[in-house]
Amino acid sequence: MTEAAKLTLSGQDHDYPVLSGSVGPDVVDIRKLYGQTGAFTYDPGFTSTASCQSKLTYIDGDEGVLLHRGYPIGELAEQSSFMEVCYLLLNGELPTADELEKFSWTISRHTMVHEQLAQFFRGFRRDAHPMAIMCGVVGALSAFYHDSTDIHDPQQRMIASHRLIAKMPTIAAMAYKYSVGQPFLYPDNSLSYTGNFLRMTFGVPAEQYEVNPAVEKAMDRIFILHADHEQNASTSTVRLAGSSGANPFACIAAGIACLWGPAHGGANEAALNMLHEIGTPERIPEFIARAKDKNDPFRLMGFGHRVYKNYDPRATVMQKTVREVFAALNVQDPLFETALRLEEIALSDDYFVEKKLFPNVDFYSGVILSAIGFPTSMFTVLFALARTVGWVAQWNEMITDPDQKIGRPRQLYTGPTQRAYVPVGQR
Ligand code: CMC
Repeated sequence: MTEAAKLTLSGQDHDYPVLSGSVGPDVVDIRKLYGQTGAFTYDPGFTSTASCQSKLTYIDGDEGVLLHRGYPIGELAEQSSFMEVCYLLLNGELPTADELEKFSWTISRHTMVHEQLAQFFRGFRRDAHPMAIMCGVVGALSAFYHDSTDIHDPQQRMIASHRLIAKMPTIAAMAYKYSVGQPFLYPDNSLSYTGNFLRMTFGVPAEQYEVNPAVEKAMDRIFILHADHEQNASTSTVRLAGSSGANPFACIAAGIACLWGPAHGGANEAALNMLHEIGTPERIPEFIARAKDKNDPFRLMGFGHRVYKNYDPRATVMQKTVREVFAALNVQDPLFETALRLEEIALSDDYFVEKKLFPNVDFYSGVILSAIGFPTSMFTVLFALARTVGWVAQWNEMITDPDQKIGRPRQLYTGPTQRAYVPVGQR
């Protein structure tokens, strides 16, 4: 602990401990503030508030650094697999070869969903957004897996975590299949986690599906890039939902609902839609002008970040992956040229430079995902699939944290003070 922070309020001095993490800004521990002073702190959007302690991910937004359990995201994306990263997030260390094999085997044994769960899909309209289906179906898992909802039993927590990671690709693929009117495919556990997902999504029962190894690798890398990201909105939602003791399936459904928003996971869909709207590089200045106009709600989607005030390291990997996927599939997409040019123009514009707005993970992901064959409506679903491991790892960490309490923020009340009720006839 370093020196205490001093606060003077109404002429009284108060000391608050300053806590240091292993790296990153110190935090002022204000847990006793209200008890000692009767005052709250005010921090809408939690821009300066650490809501918990965590050992999972670390971001240095100024330097553009993202670490998972200490390992840089670029190294993990280049050298590891999504299964390795899942193990790392859940267990704290990279697995040995034996541990990885056992873990992958365990996950593969949970890939099927209860047969009756398929009935749920039929209750949705065919044109339902797949994220709407994900919220409903993942929440419904609580009704199927009662034997893993006791949050105080570490064994049940582990099984629920494995189930969520394993079943998410199956449910995501089913959401896609339902929207295109094709039959659901059962998982094939002889394939990798990612290969299996690609087959369940793009395969049909009438034909043999060959997994393209380059696409499988790119998809696996995209999953790694999205695996966890500190206390972002959906992760905080999962923690907040879990803080009341809600079961893990309900908590992850809450995370999915939060992720759906265009300022968070929905930005990859919005970014590609924006690139389509811009069309050709000649129209970029018009959209840059709109993004800068205070009276226009338009924002450059895939740009800016609450924490990164530098290039998002995930965007660097994404940009490289676009080229690899295009080469593997032998495709070209003029939108990629538009995206590159847009980035170039924005990064040399004073507005974006001064506000430190750089491309984030979502700027290039849409271009890759559509080259692979996903419709835009599936983009956020893929984010949810990959982020599930981060959510469950954070949820587990929260449950075992001795400082954990139900999340219950305070407020600055600005409404009417107490007043007497006036009967309707006298108003
Ligand atoms: N285009 C134009 N201006 C922007 C943008 C943008 N994309 N992002 C931020 N700004 C401006 C904003 O208008 C504000 O200006 P001023 O200070 O003059 O009012 C300033 O930059 C700071 O923005 P903010 O909204 O106060 O910052 P925030 O930390 O609350 O928001 C953000 C972060 C990601 C919601 C925001 O940058 C944004 O809306 N970006 C577009 C959506 C997007 O790409 N989201 C994906 C985030 S990465 C994936 C994920 O983690 O979910």
